Amino acid sequence: MQIVKNIERMQKIADKLREEKKIIGFVPTMGYLHSGHLNLVKLAKEKSDIVVMSIYVNPTQFGPNEDFSKYPRNFERDEKLAKEEGVDIIFYPESMYKDNLTFVNVENITKLLCGESRPTHFRGVATIVSKLFNIVKPHLAVFGQKDAQQVAVIQKMIDDLNFDIKLVLSPIIREKDGLAISSRNVNLNEKDRKNATILVESLRFIKRQIDEGNTNLKELIEQAKKMIELTPNAKLDYYSVVSYPEIRKIDKLEKKTLIALAVYFGKVRLIDNMIIGE
Ligand code: PAF
Repeated sequence: MQIVKNIERMQKIADKLREEKKIIGFVPTMGYLHSGHLNLVKLAKEKSDIVVMSIYVNPTQFGPNEDFSKYPRNFERDEKLAKEEGVDIIFYPESMYKDNLTFVNVENITKLLCGESRPTHFRGVATIVSKLFNIVKPHLAVFGQKDAQQVAVIQKMIDDLNFDIKLVLSPIIREKDGLAISSRNVNLNEKDRKNATILVESLRFIKRQIDEGNTNLKELIEQAKKMIELTPNAKLDYYSVVSYPEIRKIDKLEKKTLIALAVYFGKVRLIDNMIIGE
């Protein structure tokens, strides 16, 4: 496995791989790898000849009072896990911004859900992902459904800016007790970690109700919100129902409906979601 820290060198390697007609699969990450990331690698390996993983904690997608400095980092551990999973190249840049004056802004679908409470987040994500696409030059890139709004934003950016890249979607990977796997889970204390399963439990409650024919979404969301409010130390950021991938507020089930929530446990912000009608 190769570790590449320099942007121009990564671009040269990508050019050479493309000349050799190799399919480049890309897994962008912010590191602190977990089984969710390793699943992205598995999917990339199935569909490509060479898997490039980037590890970069991107400052522009964090707001001023967010957890950029507290975001977990451990390159040696990541290197070992990536190697074991069969990653071919880790792109591990020190810095990605010199005097950047150019940002990529995907409009409308970034207004609700995480975009409402983190107004500059998706601008940071779209900008770094465009930069990474231009450096790694992949044929396909794998993203996880846990970040459902991020997936919608990247797909729209790919379409609107004509990136010749296929987005491959990986399902949400969960712990045994149902908690969606996330790098941030390590920052939860023992009590909060136990209580954090309320996110998936509330989603499963809604799913059961819908399956039983109760499609009054407004009422179901109110009941799910109550479940969060009754959980010790949990502070609801949002609980929303939107059309997918348009991220438009709706009150009735659509062809594809995204039910998504974000909850704080202390300073740790967790998200989870479910798509109905896939
Ligand atoms: O999903 C993430 O880990 C990040 O948002 C990404 C796509 C690597 C961009 O920094």
